[in-house]
Amino acid sequence: MKLWGGRFTKETNELVHNFNASISFDQKFYQQDIRGSIAHVTMLASQGILSEEDKTTIIDGLTGILKDIEDSTLAISSDSEDIHSFVEQTLIERVGDAGKRLHTGRSRNDQVALDMKLYTRDEIVELDRLLKELLTSIMNVMKQHMETFMPGFTHLQKAQPITLAHHFGAYFEMFKRDRQRLSDIYKRMNYCPLGSGALAGTTYPLDRELTASLLDFDGPTLNSMDSVADRDYLIELLSALSTIMMHLSRFSEEIIIWNSNEYRFVEIDDSYSTGSSIMPQKKNPDIAELVRGKTGRVYGALMSLLTTMKGLPLAYNKDMQEDKELSFDAIDTVKGCIRLFTGMIDTMKFNTAVMETSAKTGFTNATDAADYLVNHGVPFRDAHGIVGQLVLYCIDKNIALDDMTLDEFKAISPVFEADIYDAISLKTCVEKRVTIGAPGMEAMQKVIAINEKYLASDS
Ligand code: ARG
Repeated sequence: MKLWGGRFTKETNELVHNFNASISFDQKFYQQDIRGSIAHVTMLASQGILSEEDKTTIIDGLTGILKDIEDSTLAISSDSEDIHSFVEQTLIERVGDAGKRLHTGRSRNDQVALDMKLYTRDEIVELDRLLKELLTSIMNVMKQHMETFMPGFTHLQKAQPITLAHHFGAYFEMFKRDRQRLSDIYKRMNYCPLGSGALAGTTYPLDRELTASLLDFDGPTLNSMDSVADRDYLIELLSALSTIMMHLSRFSEEIIIWNSNEYRFVEIDDSYSTGSSIMPQKKNPDIAELVRGKTGRVYGALMSLLTTMKGLPLAYNKDMQEDKELSFDAIDTVKGCIRLFTGMIDTMKFNTAVMETSAKTGFTNATDAADYLVNHGVPFRDAHGIVGQLVLYCIDKNIALDDMTLDEFKAISPVFEADIYDAISLKTCVEKRVTIGAPGMEAMQKVIAINEKYLASDS
């Protein structure tokens, strides 16, 4: 049964019905649809547009439908075009004439705009909660590994020594910004489109402020055409989700490298690894790879919606129904990835001795050797040249800077004294980096304190 059969003389072609219908996916927001309808009839009654009896009958009917869908005693039928039609038709079947008054002063255009916003808002809250869990896991690693030395890389070449806490701290900042982005989007989108009608408002004396406040919005939207045609907030969300995936993907890439036989910085737990059907020795980092791989489909959703929206004249067009499947898929994908990634981090083993050995080889303390000379009056450019010679010498002998004898140091520059060994030890190299944001213990402690306060204060 159609909500709009009146002006039609023929049945819809079956293929057309299937092509046009959205019930297979928009049933995902049955809860939000019912919540919006309850707010709508509450407002209609408070404005005297609907009697109190009809309001009660409708709300009882809607509450029953919600309960029955949740208990699986009411199956959502694909005969209906969309979830809005299904709920309204079921209500009419169950409560009769009062149900026919539900749609007074409303169009499916403002209804779907509302439902999608309510759904998105709920999902933003859940995404934020998951990100906070991930941040908590990252913080745990940071607190335990403030003195776990490892090489920091540029160009994937060993550069300077850092700590594991410092490396994880970089991701902490990224995911913190991701949460801020979600919260900005929430604030910007939190205006209620209900009451905008099909495009031009309605002739009923609706109280849009009331519906907005019943549904926890900051107020009603201010232009009815924009209200039914706006999908900016979804584009912003898909962009924020893409950035989250970009961060997760970079982190995954590092973990895949660190977990490789060549690096062995970490070992992903058996429970988060998979094997090979042919090679018995294999333990593969599939979860990290899948997170990295799924980044593509989230970026795809963003590009898809941007493209769908780009040529649409105002106001509502059916093209906009395409916002749903890709948004649902992107949201579910990102939620899954954050959950899995957090579990992988929580169970991962860090081979701290391997990391430290790796930091010792590869001349990560070369800059500090040059700084030593500078502190003894050698101009930096000369110091850079002298340490370059030391490095060449060590490469030739296959040793680290720390393995050179004092005589060998002095043969290249007489400025070196016995305190050079302490000056270029990993501990000194890291500890001397005390400016805020640097890996030195003192600086890290400050940052950890700031970020722990952030995690505690934040809801
Ligand atoms: N299923 C539709 C959507 O998702 C609901 C709005 C239908 N409105 C209309 N004028 N056909 O966009």
